[in-house]
Amino acid sequence: MPGRRVVRPSEAVRRLGPADLTRLAALEQAAGPDPWTPDQLLAALADSDTRVFGIAGEAGLLGHAVVVRLPFEAELQALLVAREARRQGVALRLLAAVIEQARGWHSERVLLEVRAGNAAALALYRRAAFCEDGRRRGYYPAHQGGRREDAVLMSLPLA
Ligand SMILES: CC(C)(COP(=O)(O)OP(=O)(O)OC[C@H]1O[C@@H](n2cnc3c(N)ncnc32)[C@H](O)[C@@H]1OP(=O)(O)O)[C@@H](O)C(=O)NCCC(=O)NCCS
Repeated sequence: MPGRRVVRPSEAVRRLGPADLTRLAALEQAAGPDPWTPDQLLAALADSDTRVFGIAGEAGLLGHAVVVRLPFEAELQALLVAREARRQGVALRLLAAVIEQARGWHSERVLLEVRAGNAAALALYRRAAFCEDGRRRGYYPAHQGGRREDAVLMSLPLA
């Protein structure tokens, strides 16, 4: 694949902080279907009940995940991998860090919502043992003039 970036095992997952904002915003702009703004990213990086995990290569961030602590559960709010680094297990490694964090918070479940048409993400979450709990009809605005899309609600029990 042209421009493919081989991800090395030594490029470990780490917690990101405010110093990573520029690289995080660059990844969102380059690869995010609905990019978070720098203000939204900074708020996540600064919030004590939120963790932002990333895998950094030499040329920038290869992927990141945002997880928020709720009263009894944890919610995955974002997961994004650079196009040139996909299908090399980066998302699975980020998800493992998210799940470890949720266990550390003693969360009962990890929750997430995903567009019904996002086949890659649905396959990823099923592979990571998330189950579908239900749908919110027409929850997401249309992409490029199509129809609104359902949100698929998924969860992973941690008990
Ligand atoms: C979804 C996304 C995060 C997956 O990242 P990734 O690093 O490529 O995923 P991984 O390499 O860890 O994939 C692990 C498994 O998930 C499944 N999977 C991932 N991408 C897939 C795809 N495009 N098609 C089918 N299955 C896929 C496969 O089972 C894969 O294992 P395999 O490569 O051995 O077959 C990435 O495509 C992305 O950033 N998409 C845009 C943002 C997005 O949709 N985020 C989720 C919002 S809820």
